Amino acid sequence: MLEGKRILLVIAGGIAAYKSLDLIRRLRERGASVRCILTKGGAEFVTPLAVAALSEEKVYQHLFSLTDENEMGHIRLSREADLVLVAPATADIMARMAAGICDDLATTALLATDKPVMVAPSMNVMMWGHLATQANLATLEKRGVLRVGPGSGDLACGEVGSGRLAEVMDIVRAVESFFDASAGPRPLSGRRAIVTSGPTWEAIDPVRYIANRSSGKQGHAIAAALAKLGAETVLVSGPSREPDPQGVRVIHIESAREMRDACFTALPADIAVCAAAVADWRPAEAAGQKMKKNGDAPAPLALTENPDILASLSQAENRRPRLVVGFAAETENVVAYAQAKRARKGCDWILANDVAPGTGTFGGASNTIHLITAETVEDWPTMSKEAVAGRLAERIAAAFGRPA
Ligand code: C5P
Repeated sequence: MLEGKRILLVIAGGIAAYKSLDLIRRLRERGASVRCILTKGGAEFVTPLAVAALSEEKVYQHLFSLTDENEMGHIRLSREADLVLVAPATADIMARMAAGICDDLATTALLATDKPVMVAPSMNVMMWGHLATQANLATLEKRGVLRVGPGSGDLACGEVGSGRLAEVMDIVRAVESFFDASAGPRPLSGRRAIVTSGPTWEAIDPVRYIANRSSGKQGHAIAAALAKLGAETVLVSGPSREPDPQGVRVIHIESAREMRDACFTALPADIAVCAAAVADWRPAEAAGQKMKKNGDAPAPLALTENPDILASLSQAENRRPRLVVGFAAETENVVAYAQAKRARKGCDWILANDVAPGTGTFGGASNTIHLITAETVEDWPTMSKEAVAGRLAERIAAAFGRPA
């Protein structure tokens, strides 16, 4: 989500400075590059070595450093960024920013920058509530400085109240929202999407279940691709080892019935993509206690059919998403069977794939797709599941035309 973004992080001297180390990691794992200015106070709480190791960049500390000025002047430092983030922003640095004081590298860069600035305040509750701080904040906000937090709760000083540095992930989300908003509308901005992914687990008793080998790779990649194009995406996922995709709201469920309920709760939506390998059957009755081995005969397992989520979304009266997409995993007559499935379930598109033994599709990294609509069959070359997801998201965006 932050691919290629350059962030200049100013770490000021508050106890929450230790959280800036985690912040650097979280921003970088999203693709941002993070260059840091560590104030004199900041260096009392975190070491330049730790900041340099995590940012994998030189750490800038001194205004009058001959080497720093030679390599990277303070003006260039402040301009070679897409966003200047002050975290933690102490009462002191906010006061100096408001007053235009520039007596160290951090405040000089903040005065010299022509880039957006975001502060994440962190201080004692009385300092935060003080009229001076509030007046400084009002001045900064009037000038367009963005703010995330502070939160409230236990403070490091032992008092309780407002002044806690916003949670690291909240700061990351604020940074992402800033870049999202400045990027303008994306092809699926304003559209809502529901994606199902992974297997479902159907309880036999409290410790046993029926499942399948679905990895969730394809469904998760589709959710990520739709979110990347701007769709507000809910991913309803069965148990999967895949990490939650960024920028997506993930609802973790186990059984088919939980998956169906979560999908219907997430309505209304413009788009539904059912990529989950939902178990067709579940034990007719899950035992309340662990079933015991009694003699030689294994317990008989009576099965009953699970709800068909794709069909029920396709046939949902009034609430049917405008575009419903399903998958058809077949081992023979792939296209013909998938066309029949599309008609039977009532969905708009089917992505048919060959899962015959030896293709390696189930649980594997690639997929060979035929996109089947009411009128057409498109044969896609074998691609990674990410590429399939990207191509599907592009096709969906094209079907919707302009952003909502
Ligand atoms: O009927 P079959 O399982 O082959 O259909 C596959 C498609 O239907 C997939 O899109 C799958 O996510 C969806 N499906 C579902 N609920 C079920 C069974 C399948 O949503 N109970």
